Amino acid sequence: MSGSARDAARRGARRAAVPALVAFAAVVTGFSGTTAAAATARPAADDWKWALPPGFPVPLVPKDNRMSKAKVELGRFLFYDPKLSGNGTQSCSSCHLQAKAFSDGRAQGLGSTGELHPRGPQSLTNVAYNTTLTWANPALVRLERQAETPLFGEHPVEMGVTDRNKARVLARFQRSKAYRARYAAAYPRVKKPVTWANTVKAIAAFQRTLISGDSRYDRLLQRKARFTASEQRGAELFFGERAECHHCHGGFNFTEQTTFVGARRERPVFRNTGLFNIGGTGAFPEPNTGAFSITGNPADMGAFRAPTLRNIALTAPYMHDGSLPTLEAVIDFYAAGGRDITEGPNAGDGRLSPFRDPLTSGIDLSPEEKADLVAFLKTLTDRGFVTRRSISDPFRRR
Ligand code: HEC
Ligand code: HEC
Repeated sequence: MSGSARDAARRGARRAAVPALVAFAAVVTGFSGTTAAAATARPAADDWKWALPPGFPVPLVPKDNRMSKAKVELGRFLFYDPKLSGNGTQSCSSCHLQAKAFSDGRAQGLGSTGELHPRGPQSLTNVAYNTTLTWANPALVRLERQAETPLFGEHPVEMGVTDRNKARVLARFQRSKAYRARYAAAYPRVKKPVTWANTVKAIAAFQRTLISGDSRYDRLLQRKARFTASEQRGAELFFGERAECHHCHGGFNFTEQTTFVGARRERPVFRNTGLFNIGGTGAFPEPNTGAFSITGNPADMGAFRAPTLRNIALTAPYMHDGSLPTLEAVIDFYAAGGRDITEGPNAGDGRLSPFRDPLTSGIDLSPEEKADLVAFLKTLTDRGFVTRRSISDPFRRR
């Protein structure tokens, strides 16, 4: 950007006071109006009352897996229990740690038998609102279905439950008096409640309660907090048309793939940000070819879901393969408009990829502006979420 354009942007930034930013964010993200109306639409369950952050819509709940306190509590125990893996060493929480907003700090997931997952464990922040699940799978839309992959998957092995040990793993819960009581409470009027289907449903119900909406950004919208000058400049960049971030990371959940009660149904979008361009063909390294690996459509090569940016400061390293170690590196990557890999088997200039989304074609940012964007991203951290007792490890003594 030229010096005079930068000066103009700075002048604009100075002029915009915090209330203006609030109004601006509300317009850009549709934060107030529609979602608030949806929140009163219809109750999701029997004894279940959502305690949602202001402006958050009601999550979708499948008809055959209504929410209840007892089911959520059972799911919480199961989520944190290593008895749920074949060899008894790993739980869902081994790769989804509350302190890291339910991600785990690894570039690639490490399964119970030592196998590496090709991609990184994702944050489960607000997972109930995701239109599709995992990094890039247009076909995976239900948490109940997703849980089968870590439990029973063989490529790679995660929790290592197999046809051979399946009954034995379930018997561990059947044998426990405490678990029998929890299953019975979660599935009243069911003769034999300790089944795999009920196990998976309870875990899904628990995951739908992993809702995070009390960051400093949220408090700013409620006029309970103030931004520093740098955070505010970062917010204006984020929601502005120069950095373009909000197009893909927009809405109350900072992702364009959002669904909830009363939401308009839209076809989920996957985007190529220019991380790879092997040999100039646009290819991504196998097996991480994005939505292409599911659809086989050449235009989906390297296209991933834009993840939520809530709690993003807690979930390094970044991108599906954890290849960007810090938020600073992510901003440098977007500023460059892609990644140029100069040697090795993945060599190729991502900036020139034929599949890269035009919204990520590079941004002329000063070092100060880059720092401002990082400062803004850090306002999306919700400390209460990573310490909230109701979603914490029930086996840990306090
Ligand atoms: C070995 C580590 C590991 C374990 C154990 C594990 N996960 Fe994951 N999880 C991952 C990885 C890696 C991904 C990304 C998967 C992909 O892109 O294919 C993921 C993705 C997810 C997602 C998708 C999140 C989103 O934003 O779409 C959910 C939900 C999830 N895991 C839930 C669970 C549950 C429930 C369990 C226990 C039954 C579990 N995970 C066990 C590593 C793990
Ligand atoms: C064209 C859509 C698009 C735009 C514009 C965009 N992003 Fe992204 N963003 C994505 C996608 C897709 C991913 C996941 C890519 C992957 O894993 O390979 C992502 C990943 C990220 C991540 C890492 C998330 C994680 O969980 O690892 C951060 C941080 C991020 N973007 C911030 C930004 C910022 C800041 C901007 C503006 C400068 C921006 N994005 C602009 C689509 C976009």
